[in-house]
Amino acid sequence: MLICTCPYNTMLSHKKQVAKAPECWYNRNMEHSKLILAPSVLSADFSRMAEELETINHSASKWIHFDVMDGRFVPNITFGPKFIQDLKPCSSLVFDTHLMIDEPENYVELFARSGCDYITVHAEATVHLHRVLQLIHSCGCKAGVAIVPSTPVCMIEPVLESCDLVLVMTVNPGFGGQQIIPSTLHKVTDLAQIRDDEGYGYLVSVDGGINTKTIADVALAGADVAVCGSAFFGSDDRAGFAEEMIRIADEAFEQ
Ligand code: DX5
Ligand code: ZN
Repeated sequence: MLICTCPYNTMLSHKKQVAKAPECWYNRNMEHSKLILAPSVLSADFSRMAEELETINHSASKWIHFDVMDGRFVPNITFGPKFIQDLKPCSSLVFDTHLMIDEPENYVELFARSGCDYITVHAEATVHLHRVLQLIHSCGCKAGVAIVPSTPVCMIEPVLESCDLVLVMTVNPGFGGQQIIPSTLHKVTDLAQIRDDEGYGYLVSVDGGINTKTIADVALAGADVAVCGSAFFGSDDRAGFAEEMIRIADEAFEQ
């Protein structure tokens, strides 16, 4: 049940939440793995979404990534909270929602009610980023901040202690199937370093152009979560693809 009615009241009563540092995640097919694979349904067949989720459930993926686009913050439109709510009974995996919408504060409560576990908002989409993170927490969800390729890490440094997730866009947001922008990877490394230095607890996620060719680089850079759309849904053997991604990442983590 939601408790947030007024963001100003919840700001006063909300206790600071600092997530625990990332640990190894158990994958049923893969023993222990640090990488969390999060297939993005953006690249799924929307006419068969429940079946598409089943293929995620039967892979080594731990999260499902939902890309919400408003046609303003990004030049594309996808779906809203009802879509997520209707899919919630189809999976017990973590629902990881990426809001690519302007003024996300106006929609946080709706998405929280729809069953999202993580709600991630863009630093570029709201003036009052800290307040939005508090609002997400007050709704009982984990709070994430995303940055586009042109946004530096220093822009979000003041709110990092309030984050459960930091999502580094490795392509310009709006569409699946793009090529990774290599210059974004240093931000992954910087964020992992800041977390370790400061004792923060957020996970670092990468989103865009992640596949079997790029996963080693993002794992080496320090990513904990890999969002993957076109490569996962374009694979003939999605379970095999997920295992391959985690295997490559694990080998990179060991280096
Ligand atoms: C892009 C979205 C991504 C997208 C990734 O704006 O945020 O989550 O689905 O798709 P791929 O993996 O195809 O780059
Ligand atoms: Zn995304």
